[in-house]
Amino acid sequence: MCGIVGYIGPKNSVPILLEGLQRLEYRGYDSAGIALIADHKLVVHKKAGKVAELVRMVNGNGHGLTAHLGIGHTRWATHGEPNDLNAHPHWDCHKEIAIIHNGIIENYVTLRTKLVLDGHIIRTKTDTEILVHLIEEMYKRANDLFTAVRLALLEVEGAYGILVVSTKEPDRIIAARKGSPLLIGIGERENLVASDAAAVVDHTRQVVYLEDGEVACITANSYVTKTIHDKEIIKEVEEITFDLQQIEKGGFEHFMLKEIHEQPESIRNSLRGRLLMPEGVVKLGGLEPVLDKLYSAERIIIMACGTSWHAGLAGKFMLEQLARIPVEVDYASEFRYRNPVIKPNDVAIVISQSGETADTQAALREAKSKGAVVIGVVNVVGSTIARGTDAGVYIHAGPEIGVASTKAFTSQIAVLSLITLLLARHRGLAEEQCRLLAADLMSLPDKVEKVLGESDHIKYLAGEFKHVQNFLYLGRGSNFPTALEGALKLKEISYIHAEGYPAAEMKHGPIALIDENMPVVFIVPKDAIYEKVLSNMQEVRARRGKIIAVANEDDHEIDQLADHVIRVPRTYSYFGPIVNSIPLQLLAYYMAVARGCNVDQPRNLAKSVTVE
Ligand code: F6R
Repeated sequence: MCGIVGYIGPKNSVPILLEGLQRLEYRGYDSAGIALIADHKLVVHKKAGKVAELVRMVNGNGHGLTAHLGIGHTRWATHGEPNDLNAHPHWDCHKEIAIIHNGIIENYVTLRTKLVLDGHIIRTKTDTEILVHLIEEMYKRANDLFTAVRLALLEVEGAYGILVVSTKEPDRIIAARKGSPLLIGIGERENLVASDAAAVVDHTRQVVYLEDGEVACITANSYVTKTIHDKEIIKEVEEITFDLQQIEKGGFEHFMLKEIHEQPESIRNSLRGRLLMPEGVVKLGGLEPVLDKLYSAERIIIMACGTSWHAGLAGKFMLEQLARIPVEVDYASEFRYRNPVIKPNDVAIVISQSGETADTQAALREAKSKGAVVIGVVNVVGSTIARGTDAGVYIHAGPEIGVASTKAFTSQIAVLSLITLLLARHRGLAEEQCRLLAADLMSLPDKVEKVLGESDHIKYLAGEFKHVQNFLYLGRGSNFPTALEGALKLKEISYIHAEGYPAAEMKHGPIALIDENMPVVFIVPKDAIYEKVLSNMQEVRARRGKIIAVANEDDHEIDQLADHVIRVPRTYSYFGPIVNSIPLQLLAYYMAVARGCNVDQPRNLAKSVTVE
């Protein structure tokens, strides 16, 4: 959602903040702003639109802004429309204290009423502005910014990652978190603070992650961390695990295209060192603490949102088929609101690329509170979900900047495949079968590479279909999740309405939509239900729907039925979504480009959804 960055040190903070905001823009991008303390004055610049608008405004004012302390914010609106006024930072009645905030203050209406009665002038409709007035009020009592922030937060219900600065204490930034990520980047005679390591990695690799309920006072040379209840805590310094070049476009036109093309490597990284060949023995060190529980599990509950939920569905298919264990896949956002039944031998798996999704965090807490062991399948190292689980497996896909998830999806399934093999072997799957499956898993990066070779053909198809209004995606078995994911990718970035269905369900309703204007993408590999899917294709053809088939290289029958065929190598059906989703990612990408859409920052979306 919103991105946060702060700097304090000997350098001019302005370019550092603006560059940091550009790196954070993928998290949310409807407005941006900075607050600087220079000569004991608060200087604020904020603007609706992309960070580029703010940069133009700051660079265009010609004053050569300089400040050694500053905070910056990119916003994804929750309360109040995205305009200049509602953009962060917000300030108090006397323009002495400024705040930036990620999250939602749930009791802001009550707080607002009280503050207005106390004489505060509130200028915006945002929940954030209420918080800065509350801090102003507390400052009157405490006369110390660190304490004032702490006291204010004791009155607040909701989620926040905040940075606060004041002209009265121009040598410090106060940071606090509850439900929204924040980390301190520790430099030499300078410190940074941000919602995401991407904003600090240019300056330092040493970071301290704040936990929920913690508050920090950061100066150029030191930082102090406390709980919100004033108990000092010593934090561990950790190392950022990725490089700057991983968060740059590296010659590609968009992050999304770069990330699609990174998949042979990202899948290799997910598997590396974890699958011992040729025996196909799986070693997942991160699961050691819960291995007994996992082996004796009677049911697995997978919880996730969006694309990660689709990966969960692919995981269900393989876990049930190969490990013979019942699996339920839940929308994390629904899980906690239906008083779920959790039994003593249940194991929960939460899947999250960002590791920060609020709904998934809540599902994780719910499962834990009901006694389940919770395993994380997460991309971002050190993220809240990764640290909140009992054990886990990082997917090691590397930073994913494009808002539409691509390489994280295939790596999530790769890791679920490893968990499946681990369990399947323990539960009696024949050694020979494990060896064959493992060999197929290891061949996936090359198969994905081969599918990427279809790019030009897919680009041509995008040109053919770019003007349509609707798309249907159909698949069965393990490729039902592939169909869902293909449809989600298309609607997210091209704004074409698309639906994914199990192919056989089409005749129970969606078939009414089929006419010569409806393109239908069939994911139809030569598996056990191939013939059945061909029948569904016949039904579409009979109604003059346009068929795009994702089919195997050696499938010649398909040419009689489909208008267009995208060829993919054969693979075991369990791992099919990894190979078969690649052409669908490319199709969505090229459609969006052909329609002139902003691929990396589609409207209304945010990379990590840290509000409920
Ligand atoms: C779609 C997409 C979203 C995310 C969802 C969960 O391209 O990216 O649907 O998958 O918001 O996010 P994570 O995986 O970070 O929990």
